Amino acid sequence: MADIKNQIDQIKNEIKNDLEKISSSKNIDQIKIKYLGKKGIVTKLMSNLKNFSTEEKRKFGPKLNQLKKEAEDQIKVIKEKLIKKETENKILKKQSFDVTLYKPQKIQGHKHPYSSFTEEIENIFISMGFYPSDGPEVESDFYNFTALNVPENHPARDMYDTFWLDKKNMLLRTHTSTIQIHAMKNKPLPIATFAIGKAYRHEAVDASHDIMFMQCEGMLIDKNITLSHLFAVAKTFLQKMFDKKDLDIRTRPGFFPFVEPGVEIDMRCPFCKNGCSVCKKTTWIEVFPGGLIHPNVLRSGGIDPEKYSGFAFGFGLTRLAMLKYGINDIRHFYNGKLKFLKQF
Ligand code: DAH
Repeated sequence: MADIKNQIDQIKNEIKNDLEKISSSKNIDQIKIKYLGKKGIVTKLMSNLKNFSTEEKRKFGPKLNQLKKEAEDQIKVIKEKLIKKETENKILKKQSFDVTLYKPQKIQGHKHPYSSFTEEIENIFISMGFYPSDGPEVESDFYNFTALNVPENHPARDMYDTFWLDKKNMLLRTHTSTIQIHAMKNKPLPIATFAIGKAYRHEAVDASHDIMFMQCEGMLIDKNITLSHLFAVAKTFLQKMFDKKDLDIRTRPGFFPFVEPGVEIDMRCPFCKNGCSVCKKTTWIEVFPGGLIHPNVLRSGGIDPEKYSGFAFGFGLTRLAMLKYGINDIRHFYNGKLKFLKQF
């Protein structure tokens, strides 16, 4: 008999010790299971009661019930205390959050200047009613030369140092003018489109040349299109690009087999009034060539030159980007140096 009494006392002590040690409300359930769970110490002792004599049952039954009740109450009280303390700590932590505390600077990436520049060009042309077009970089001789009024053995082919491919008559496009023919063949008239893409030339690499470069091609075909339309589009585009409402342009004759007449379009230097190093003291900067689409080219695209006329122009993105951002070496755009890229 004394044995049960001892056991009850011992369990009481154990519970007390366990509860003293506990520091987190999360662990309290383990203690509850240890003593009051199905196989818990107190539960087991109570189920043993049935083996006792009536006298023992009468004596220890209430004691065991009391032990169970006390254990339940103690666990409940400690759990509530711990939860309260934890909530208070959380609030305290929030209150003492120091917004001025030093936080190491995160290195955050951004768009490559070339991507932003490309988007800017796209936005300007789209705002003027031109839609974007696309075409393959691996082309046939037809799209790159013949359809653009540069037949086989024509000397104008020498203007382009071409990467010919192993497959007969196939090449890496030397310019994005190929897209003119794709658009003529695939789009309904009238056509007002532009295309930005890569072009390839077999050239020595230096500060202003690379074997791969980005070009932008533009084209408008409708009835009664004249050079004035080209000049107006060129001027508006340049004014928006250099953010100068009064930016002037001038034109000179130029030769490209796919235009007749062909022109070179220059813009007034946006950086000076009386000449500087960018415009080589001339106050004019050559920006891009263009012209009225040659009747042979319209015919290659399946368009009747008696009924329709159009203008086209094309320019390299790098030169324009170098002018806009004041960059002096084309290779900066591709070598991925962070020191350069972080400036944008
Ligand atoms: N395709 C020419 C080049 O890469 C640029 C060009 C000149 C495009 C005159 C045109 C144009 O559309 O009319 O050098």
